[in-house]
Amino acid sequence: MSQIALITGGGGGIGGAVARRMAAAGITVIVADFDHGAAEKVRGVIASAGGKADALSVDVTQAREVKAVVTDVEKRFGRIDVLANIAGGSFYTKRIEEFTWAEWKEVIDVNLKGTFLMCRAVAPVMQKQKSGRILNTASNYGVTGSALRTPYSAAKAGIIAFTKTLAQELAQDGILVNTVAPGPTDTPRVMGKESPEARKQRWSQIPMGRTGQPEDLAEAFYFLTTPESNWITGQTFHVNGGLVTP
Ligand SMILES: NC(=O)c1ccc[n+]([C@@H]2O[C@H](COP(=O)([O-])OP(=O)(O)OC[C@H]3O[C@@H](n4cnc5c(N)ncnc54)[C@H](O)[C@@H]3O)[C@@H](O)[C@H]2O)c1
Repeated sequence: MSQIALITGGGGGIGGAVARRMAAAGITVIVADFDHGAAEKVRGVIASAGGKADALSVDVTQAREVKAVVTDVEKRFGRIDVLANIAGGSFYTKRIEEFTWAEWKEVIDVNLKGTFLMCRAVAPVMQKQKSGRILNTASNYGVTGSALRTPYSAAKAGIIAFTKTLAQELAQDGILVNTVAPGPTDTPRVMGKESPEARKQRWSQIPMGRTGQPEDLAEAFYFLTTPESNWITGQTFHVNGGLVTP
């Protein structure tokens, strides 16, 4: 039987690549995103390549919506083998004194609260199965910090510590919990904000001499669903061309 993966932010740059990679390996993917059009697009690409996918709308910051989606997936597919929490983003770049509380909270909520709500809803399903993989998404900024991104860096650092803790809590249930921390990755969202010149300038800071592609990240997420990674839990995987080596 095909494994079932629920991927939040699955309509985005990295989430879409992760969904396509998992589907190519025969996993049935549920692409969940609050941009339903984007999720539907990824579903279509996977279906036309012969993979199995479904698209669902969810706002990961809303406990009721999260619960409803998880219940729906469990009812329809009978299990959830993989949860990939990829919905997130930094949204704002501004100095601390310019941040409103609403903006600060928005960033913390999408990244950290969303990860908590999804894990809380899916954990009991995986506990019943006595197996599961949870993949959270941080950033190199969660380790190094990044001027003008206080809530984002704090949320991503929080996700790293949350993952370590949840891995300890769920290990005896056969559930592995890890974090992938992408470095600068060429997703449409990021490319839309940075000029090609600024992007190229970044290359000189990265030992491997280039920014990441969503597919580079997708391989790390996929590896963490395979039997080859079955003694790895509580870890943070930095996928960044050597930019940050904590
Ligand atoms: N691209 C990078 O350089 C980079 C670097 C480090 C970390 N990351 C992290 O990787 C993840 C994906 O980044 P990306 O560049 O692919 O971004 P993206 O904007 O392309 O994808 C994010 C997706 O999350 C969805 N989303 C946002 N808020 C949501 C919510 N409340 N509920 C459900 N879905 C929601 C968006 O609609 C979007 O499809 C994020 O967590 C981001 O912080 C990205």
